[in-house]
Amino acid sequence: MEVDVGTGAEAEPTGGGATMGAMRVAVTGTGHVGLVTCVSLASMGHTVVGCDADQEKISLLRSGVSPFYEPGLDEGLREQIASGRLCFTSDREEAVRDAEIVFICVGTPARLNGEANLLAIERAARQFARHATGPALIVEKSTVPAGTAGRIQRVLQLERPDLAGQLEVVSNPEFLREGKALQDALHPDRILVGASSPRGFEAMRRLYAPLLTNGCRLIETDIPTPELANHACNASLALKISYVNGLARLCERAGGDVLTIAEIMGADPRIGRDFLDAGLGYGGYCFPKDLQAFERLSSRLGYEFGLLREVVKINEEAIDAAVEKLRDALWNLEDKRIALFGLAFKPGTDDTRFSPALALGERLLKEGARIIGYDPQAGANAKEELPGLEIGIGPYEAAAGCHGVVICTDWPEFRALDLHHLKRVLAFPLVVDGRNMFDPREVRAAGLAYYPTGRPPVEPDGLAG
Ligand code: UGA
Repeated sequence: MEVDVGTGAEAEPTGGGATMGAMRVAVTGTGHVGLVTCVSLASMGHTVVGCDADQEKISLLRSGVSPFYEPGLDEGLREQIASGRLCFTSDREEAVRDAEIVFICVGTPARLNGEANLLAIERAARQFARHATGPALIVEKSTVPAGTAGRIQRVLQLERPDLAGQLEVVSNPEFLREGKALQDALHPDRILVGASSPRGFEAMRRLYAPLLTNGCRLIETDIPTPELANHACNASLALKISYVNGLARLCERAGGDVLTIAEIMGADPRIGRDFLDAGLGYGGYCFPKDLQAFERLSSRLGYEFGLLREVVKINEEAIDAAVEKLRDALWNLEDKRIALFGLAFKPGTDDTRFSPALALGERLLKEGARIIGYDPQAGANAKEELPGLEIGIGPYEAAAGCHGVVICTDWPEFRALDLHHLKRVLAFPLVVDGRNMFDPREVRAAGLAYYPTGRPPVEPDGLAG
């Protein structure tokens, strides 16, 4: 992996007030965020120990293999392990012992009531405190609700009164997108640091010196601000998606074209075109969980943030809309066989957690349909999550004999599908496009009935029944 940031090896002052110098870092939790943090910090020249309780995962990582698909990650892993700057252990004491900075990247899954479950964070903080041997920073990297840093600080004080004032919590949330995570980690739009002492800010400036020297913007604040900002960013992106999906529902009723409306809106720089792609809605391990956690936090603090609940509701309606289109085209769904193209929650990843494709698949199974999916990367994960789903080895193999195809994830390769061939293999010539990937004229020319999202359908005669 080519990394065009400084090596951080030489100690020298920089224009941004940051001092370069390799630091000793530990990263607790080697999921998506943790592993990308490990590789990116090592490639900046720091010495990094990644730590995870899962022994099997540690063995895999030591052999230079990532447990999940992320472009460039395997290559980066191998390169940084070979450089001697990156290693892995399942022993937290060993990881933390000499670290100047410990990143907490453990999972914060949703509890049944939607609140974030912070047990893993508390455990990581407690173990860090027990094993710390001197002054160190503990950095919140996982998305956590506001107030978490205060809780961690209390744990540190209770566990290690002998190190009073030496163990400090810093908030440094991540803004990594899956599929582009390494690129985002090495070329971030901004670095956000919340700390409570000059020492905390100074250490983080030193850590990120290679990026700051390259001109990356650093925003330094109190601690609650970044905790809230992380949720605020994800919620506002989800809000844009739900807004455009609400518009799609309206277009489907009024006969307008949501794609053109998105272009018109996007031409106004105050609105911006990004995240205005109508479709099956947002999924993944971040937005659904974060929206719920943010709404719960807000409610617990005495503010009913109803807008967030609406965002979630509109997102769920996107699945209903796709089911309705299939029902409209095929009449009864019992005994119909439907192909789902794209099973990952978005292209460029094999992650199927909270994938809209699987939410749709589950609904179709309940309606009595049979479903077969195809995805360039996520077939195995999807099958594990939804055992009733058959997996095809290719798009045409999956579509063979089906009564319709639903485009669930906008993998670029679907744009190159031979629509004439697709029509020939289908038992019924129907495409429901949950990501608006095709030009309606081309689909019509191939003789397929076409139900896009928020755009007028192309419906040849004699389709119903
Ligand atoms: C998201 C944020 O983009 C990151 O900034 C953040 O750091 C991360 O969550 C996190 O909290 O860890 P990610 O979940 O990887 O990143 O995925 P996105 O690219 O944001 O897409 C999320 C979902 O929205 C996908 O299901 C995607 O298909 C959907 N989407 C996106 C739309 O339906 N329409 C759009 O216009 C854009």
